[in-house]
Amino acid sequence: MSARLTDRVVQLMRAMSVEEKIGQLNMLTAGLVTTGPGDPANYLEALKAGRLGSLFNLFGRKQVRDVQRIAVEETRLGIPLIFGYDIIHGHRTIFPIPLGEAAAFDAALWERTARIAALEGAAEGLNLTFAPMLDVSRDPRWGRIAESAGEDSWLTSLFAKAKVKGFQGDDVKSPLSLAATAKHLAAYGAAMAGRDYAEVEISERALHEVYLPPFEASVKAGVAALMPAFTDMDSIPLTAHVAILRDIVRRQWGFEGVIISDYNAIAELIAHGIAADLTEAATLALKAGVDIDMMGHAYVQGLPKALQSGAVTMDLIDQAVGRVLMLKEQLGLFDDPYRDAAANFDHKARRVEYRDAALDAARRSIVLLTNRNNVLPIRQAPRRVAILGPLANAQAEMLGPWSGAGLIEDMVPFLPGLRAAWPQSEILHTAGVDIEGGDLDGIAAAVDMARRADLTILCLGEQRFMSGEAGSRGRPDLPGHQAELAKAVLDVGKPVIVLLSSGRPLAVTDLIERADAVLATWFLGSEAGHAVADVVTGLWNPSAKLPVSWPVDVGQIPVFYAHRPSGRPKLSDFRYESKYLDLPNEPLFPFGHGLSYTRFTYSGFSASPSELRPGNKVTLDVTVSNEGEVAGEETALFFMRDPVASVSRPVLELKGLAKLTLAPGQSQTVTVVLTTADMMFPGQDFASKLEAGEFLFFVGSSAREETLLKASVRLVR
Ligand code: BGC
Repeated sequence: MSARLTDRVVQLMRAMSVEEKIGQLNMLTAGLVTTGPGDPANYLEALKAGRLGSLFNLFGRKQVRDVQRIAVEETRLGIPLIFGYDIIHGHRTIFPIPLGEAAAFDAALWERTARIAALEGAAEGLNLTFAPMLDVSRDPRWGRIAESAGEDSWLTSLFAKAKVKGFQGDDVKSPLSLAATAKHLAAYGAAMAGRDYAEVEISERALHEVYLPPFEASVKAGVAALMPAFTDMDSIPLTAHVAILRDIVRRQWGFEGVIISDYNAIAELIAHGIAADLTEAATLALKAGVDIDMMGHAYVQGLPKALQSGAVTMDLIDQAVGRVLMLKEQLGLFDDPYRDAAANFDHKARRVEYRDAALDAARRSIVLLTNRNNVLPIRQAPRRVAILGPLANAQAEMLGPWSGAGLIEDMVPFLPGLRAAWPQSEILHTAGVDIEGGDLDGIAAAVDMARRADLTILCLGEQRFMSGEAGSRGRPDLPGHQAELAKAVLDVGKPVIVLLSSGRPLAVTDLIERADAVLATWFLGSEAGHAVADVVTGLWNPSAKLPVSWPVDVGQIPVFYAHRPSGRPKLSDFRYESKYLDLPNEPLFPFGHGLSYTRFTYSGFSASPSELRPGNKVTLDVTVSNEGEVAGEETALFFMRDPVASVSRPVLELKGLAKLTLAPGQSQTVTVVLTTADMMFPGQDFASKLEAGEFLFFVGSSAREETLLKASVRLVR
């Protein structure tokens, strides 16, 4: 994205009053969904008065056209509006929540679902989305982990590139593309103790190594917009963070697109305690490089005063206005404000394709956590099956926390999906209990059904708004009386398969240890029921892997694989080692964990050449074999460790992945090529460094170290 102004923008800016310029920096909600304070009612008045540059939370071809017509025909300069919306995991067609989709470890899939979301959003008049969300999340208490790609920076960077490409296509100018917004820069995922909007206390190193790289990747991929986090870094809210927004993002990364504040975040600088009033808040944000004020009313109210007092310069305002108008230019809005081609695109013919993509994405997101005695798949339809639990037929919940324009009636929950797969089976169903609480009266009926059935599918988990924004939970386990329901059903002693729907890993170790099989089903979207049926019956062999470590207990949080080594690692039973007295150090399931209906083995791992010089490539080869009875897909994960460096390096870092589809008995060798650039790290001064010495590479199915194959190379100068 280039911020060099076109002649049209230069001419326009010459004709604009100061008030009209500031109006271009103002973004208001039309009120469909609101995640903060503010009255959506007055946007038309603001628009007609030239005090509105972009609008969000309005979609529908006619609705958008009517407002755009006012902008183009009834305002003094006829500047078209930007129309934004949170399209986080699908617009009409709902895909799995990002944390679920991340479990596919599949960039092509991520791009495809974003493309479809863009096509559907654009068809309804939108031209900007507040996605992708790129906050590395290591705390399942934080509800927004659901919107993220999980705990790993490298994987989130891959997700960033794929999503930006998917939303923006080859050119944002196309009426079929949406401008993407990478959010929330940065380290929002580290909100203290997982409580949303709370302070952030992380090292500058963690900022550089873990939290910033996905945003840098999105900038390299040409993302149109960035959104700073609500939270702070080093006691400075990101909305006012000059060192990060100006020095790193604009100067170092060369980002020339727009920076859009989060909802009311500029005004919230007052509550943060760094501004006395809206004028000071507006001054701080503009100086930090925030171009658009979303719902804070701070620019409209505060910038005229700040300009008058000399707190900000006209030049600074002009820079922001230039960037906003250039985004409109890049979107082609001056020439084609209605982008009608997006509506005329042949969506009807593509509905089936969209649904297929939703099914594919959902199947690829389901993680098989346990499968005792290979109880799954159920290849023979059961004679009588009990499908129990409050998530069994929960159509609305399948939408997940950000449902775009998804309709409840379009969602396929588990019960009808399984019914369609087993038309001859007798199906017994009751919810047993509510998700959130209520009484225990329904448990007896559920137990009775479990007794009468050959098999129980127990559908438990969270309500969809228990994750997502403001969806923090101090105790991320089964809400309400679901644990009692589970215990009663498991006590029956017949096979129980658990479908666990949630926006996060749930600390439900007892349940996981007792059930015969557990599938993490997140919130899978439109095709949830069909996808689950395909996995349960073995039509689809599960291939997903956890993009986040799954804790044994809430007391382990945060638990993640890429931790730094302790000076006293746990090696024995000696007391003075890094450990808990009452919990293991390791999560219940590591990053990358996910079972298949077949067995993959790894052999012949090599890293070559054994001696490298700066600028060289290192080739990692491994042979993966399918030693089971059915075909399956495996994702090989390649990790690195720098065992001796000038700063302590993580015990493992994901550096690459390779996907294989293998028939039973088939072996295949896959290769990942890294360069010495992948071996660099921020040194003591945070500048990128490459240090000579030994580097260890690992490969395997998950981050569980004892299962990985190892090879080493030496970097010499
Ligand atoms: C969220 C953003 C979102 C915005 C607009 C905020 O509360 O933090 O992620 O894009 O609302 O809906």
